[in-house]
Amino acid sequence: MPHNDAVESHYSHGELLEAIRSGVRQLGKTSETVNVEDLAPVDEFHIGGRIATEAFLDQLGLATNDHVLDVGCGLGGASRFAAQRYGCRVTGIDLTDDYVQTGEVLCEWVGLGDLVSLDRGDATATPYEDGAFDKAFMLHVGMNIENKELLALEMFRLLRPGGRLGVYDVMRMGDGDLRFPVPWATSSGESRVSTPATYRGTLEAAGFRVVAENNRSEFAMEFFTHLQANGNGAASSPLGLHVLMGGSAPEKVRNMIENVSQGRVAPVEIIVEKPA
Ligand SMILES: C[S@@+](CC[C@H](N)C(=O)[O-])C[C@H]1O[C@@H](n2cnc3c(N)ncnc32)[C@H](O)[C@@H]1O
Repeated sequence: MPHNDAVESHYSHGELLEAIRSGVRQLGKTSETVNVEDLAPVDEFHIGGRIATEAFLDQLGLATNDHVLDVGCGLGGASRFAAQRYGCRVTGIDLTDDYVQTGEVLCEWVGLGDLVSLDRGDATATPYEDGAFDKAFMLHVGMNIENKELLALEMFRLLRPGGRLGVYDVMRMGDGDLRFPVPWATSSGESRVSTPATYRGTLEAAGFRVVAENNRSEFAMEFFTHLQANGNGAASSPLGLHVLMGGSAPEKVRNMIENVSQGRVAPVEIIVEKPA
């Protein structure tokens, strides 16, 4: 199966909107009353969820007039949060049709259909014009992307001069086989984890200047330990990440605790700027 088809198949759920609608009902809310905060436990599919997104996006200097690209937006949780928090317009793009279709409905539910739009597509070959975006961000997507060079070149093309890109991905740190399944791959053949040096090298080769780099391992361990103690999200909200990861959620969380604690991988933020 071509890699992108395997990625889409890995993430496709089949009955996602119904599962989220059911979680919303269990919260005592409806599609008219649910808000961006209620959806955060399920629509921010990366280490640290909404808390991580807030700290990460604050480094991009998002402003009301910005048009921002959410690369590999998934359900668009970070897109909606950014639009609500900073008042900016956000376009999200993602390979997984199931996420894009469901995410579009969630935008309507929370009244952000005018500011946020989600498209289906490949981040390494997007349909957008040169310089179409002021800022771009990518949350836990590169672990699925084979060709980091193409990705960096596409991001450089899409940003205006002076624009910033933030990447927050799980990156390869030390030696040792990763334990699978993990949230982004069922087996090693599906995973495309790269080192921070590879990210920096490809981003710099595309023309970007590195502004900051932060290893978020400690924060990740706190997040996973808390997630595990909360039934992988199920005990704290009917809309936890268990909805997306399904029956394999406990195993994926256990494996991530081992992979991060053994120093094999870490969630790392890299912020880069396109020279003005
Ligand atoms: C772990 S999820 C993260 C989703 C979202 N960024 C978030 O944090 O909630 C990874 C997402 O990357 C998307 N993805 C993987 N490869 C992609 C590509 N080449 N182009 C666009 N999206 C891709 C997947 O479809 C999936 O939705």
